[in-house]
Amino acid sequence: MEKIVILTGAGISAESGLGTFRDAGGIWSENRIEDVATPEAFARDADRVHRFYNARRAQAAGACPNAAHRALARLQAAHPGEVVIVTQNVDALHEAAGSRGVIHMHGELARALCAACGHRWNAAPDMSPLDACPACGARACRPDVVWFGEMPCRMEEILDHLAGPDLFAAIGTSGQVWPAAGFASEAAAAGAHCVEINLEPSAVASDFHEARQGRASHLVPEWVAGLLGDAGVQSS
Ligand code: OAD
Repeated sequence: MEKIVILTGAGISAESGLGTFRDAGGIWSENRIEDVATPEAFARDADRVHRFYNARRAQAAGACPNAAHRALARLQAAHPGEVVIVTQNVDALHEAAGSRGVIHMHGELARALCAACGHRWNAAPDMSPLDACPACGARACRPDVVWFGEMPCRMEEILDHLAGPDLFAAIGTSGQVWPAAGFASEAAAAGAHCVEINLEPSAVASDFHEARQGRASHLVPEWVAGLLGDAGVQSS
C-alpha cells in the first residue's frame, strides 16, 4: 500500500467537544446557514458573522485532539508511503495531534483574510468589522473560512491527490456537502479502495467498498493499527 488519502469531517472532532453540523443539536440546527455562513450574510451583518466565528474560534482553541486525530498523525509518521489528510474542518486538531501538511479545504478559524487585498494572517481571538488589514489598512477583514457559494481551497491539489491513491478513507463526514462528497467516487474511479468510517452511513455510502460504523475515537485507531500491522494503537 503506497499512497493513502484521508478526508475528515466534523465527526472526527465531535469527541473533542466540537459540535457537528447536521446531527441533532448541531451547529446548523441552532444557526441558519444563510445568516452566518454566506458572503451575503457577511455583507448584510458582518458583526453577527464575526460573533458566530469568534465563538467557534474560542471553543476550538480550548479543544484537544482525540484518539482518532492522534492515530492519523501516527499513520502519517509510520506509513512508508504518502499519507495526505484533507479536512473540511476549520479547527486545528490534526495539527495539534502532530499531523503535517493538512489541507484545510474549508479554511481555518485561526486565520484571517483581507477581502480587499487577499492578505492572510493569524486571526486575533476576537475579530470585528472595525479591524484594519495589517497589509493594506482596509476594514474588510473576514475569517479565513470558506462560505457557502464560495470555492473550497486548494481544489487542484486535492484532485491531483485523488487521481492516484491506493486507499481513500472518509472519516466523520455526512457526505452532504460538495465537492468533498464526490471525493470517494473520484478516488474509486482512479482505482482506490474506499473506506467510510462514520457513526452512520453517509449520503454517499454507496460510493465506498467498505464501511466501518461507530465512534471515530475507537474505529480510527483500530483501522490504523490494522494498516500498520500492529496492535499498538489504543483508543482512549
Ligand atoms: P456533518 O455535521 O454534516 O456530518 C458529521 C458526520 O459525522 C455525521 O454523519 C455524523 O453521523 C458523524 N459523526 C458524529 N459523531 C461522530 C463520531 N464520534 N465518530 C464518527 N462519526 C461521527 O459534518 P461534515 O460532513 O463535516 O462547511 O460537514 C461538511 C461541511 O458542512 C462542513 O465543513 C461545513 C458544513 O456546512 C462549511 O461551513 C462550508
